[in-house]
Amino acid sequence: MLELKKKSVMFTGIQPTGSLTLGNYCGTMCSWGNLQKYYQCFFCVADLHALMSTGKKRAKYHSSKKILDMVALYLSCGVDPENNVIFVQSQIHTHSQLYWLLSNFCYFGELSRMTQFKQKSKHSQVDINLSLFCYPVLMAADILLYQTSYVSVGLDQKQHLELAQNIARRFNKLYGGIFTIPRVLINPTGFRVMALQDPQKKMSKSDANVNNTIFLLDDINIVRSKLKRSLTDSDFPAQVIYDPQRKPGVSNLLSIFSSLAEKTISQIELEFKDHQYSSFKQQLSDLVCDRISMIQKLYFSFRKDEDYLIDILKFGKKKAIHYSTENLYKVFKALDL
Ligand code: TYM
Repeated sequence: MLELKKKSVMFTGIQPTGSLTLGNYCGTMCSWGNLQKYYQCFFCVADLHALMSTGKKRAKYHSSKKILDMVALYLSCGVDPENNVIFVQSQIHTHSQLYWLLSNFCYFGELSRMTQFKQKSKHSQVDINLSLFCYPVLMAADILLYQTSYVSVGLDQKQHLELAQNIARRFNKLYGGIFTIPRVLINPTGFRVMALQDPQKKMSKSDANVNNTIFLLDDINIVRSKLKRSLTDSDFPAQVIYDPQRKPGVSNLLSIFSSLAEKTISQIELEFKDHQYSSFKQQLSDLVCDRISMIQKLYFSFRKDEDYLIDILKFGKKKAIHYSTENLYKVFKALDL
């Protein structure tokens, strides 16, 4: 039962904060069904990352409910729980242990240069937690513990992946080939879904303007209305052309279309060559709503059976502890601990 079914490991994770979005889906989740055909996949619910910078007391029920919501969504996106490992980060003690060990191989300067840290800390200098700063080291620990070859993420996480590679190389240089160097897998389209009404910024769970974000569990009529109101560009003649500099709105919609329809941007441009924005948006809306309806149908059926979801996590916990302990032990040995 604890054997790895495929040779190379793919690792990915999502924080259980807020509801998952079309950005999460196009950035990584839409490729999970395919990736599991080729790799032994580890799907992590990154709840330790979600603690970051809250500084507030959390309701117990609230967080465990969110975790089960996430597992049901993972399954709805096609993850096969029998042949892959779905687990909750905080249930696997090795993550925090390796995090500490790796922090000795990571520099203050490197962490200070992380774009996400700079963005998140720029608004307030007062309540910046140490966890916000060290978060990429925990992410490196998540990945390196499983001898991961590939990590599927959206573009916003690429810099963190590069840091994980640097930490692994640094450690290997001193102690031999302990870690596999992970490679980043970024979807050719959908790697950075932008806010619908402000395509200069990323679509995010926590956007104050809900019309900027499509949530996977949004009511379908709301999804349609958000897409209808999404910003297109005010150039004339209005053409469906990919040009993120001059046409950020339409380019964003084209990326979403491309990642859901599995067509290249050029194919879609050709398809809508003589169409108006409204007709393009209508077809995009049908595409998004079909996909979201399918996900929701599966989600509500999986979500009803809490015992099944809990069993998946128990099984995942056992496997994740098994693999990660083996690898952590190698690190302990190398460090003479
Ligand atoms: P998180 O929870 O912020 O996002 C989860 C995944 O969704 C992608 N994503 C997007 N992709 C395209 N467009 C968007 N608008 C968009 N918004 C989110 C993210 O790139 C990510 O792939 N630190 C990670 C979670 C994590 C993890 C890991 C990931 C913890 N440990 C190890 C990979 C490997 C995070 O906060 O992702």
